[in-house]
Amino acid sequence: MPDAASFSVELRPQGWRFEAPPDQTLLLAALDMGLRLPHSCRNGTCRACIAKLAAGTIDYRIEWPGLSREEKAEGWILPCVACARSDLVLEAPAAINLFDLPPPPAPPVIVAPRPPGST
Ligand code: FES
Repeated sequence: MPDAASFSVELRPQGWRFEAPPDQTLLLAALDMGLRLPHSCRNGTCRACIAKLAAGTIDYRIEWPGLSREEKAEGWILPCVACARSDLVLEAPAAINLFDLPPPPAPPVIVAPRPPGST
């Protein structure tokens, strides 16, 4: 159940939505709802999670997220260290909905050979 103070985040182009509490990073809020954004370090240095903010306002948990001034001006953000401060629209084409994945294949069935002469 989303917190009453949470913000709504829409992922584009998929149209998936999740709720982001103001004290939780966008990456963790998405993961809690089964939406996997690309990520690695989770501390704002590797840039694996980089996504473009199409609408809304965020705030960072760290002072110097690994983005240049130009990237920030263009709307690029790092969801692993960013928290919502309003409803958001985030362009994240590589996001995966973990609930939509097909089930893993069944393990192979191994049948032991019958000894000669048995039925
Ligand atoms: S996961 Fe490394 S910068 Fe976001």
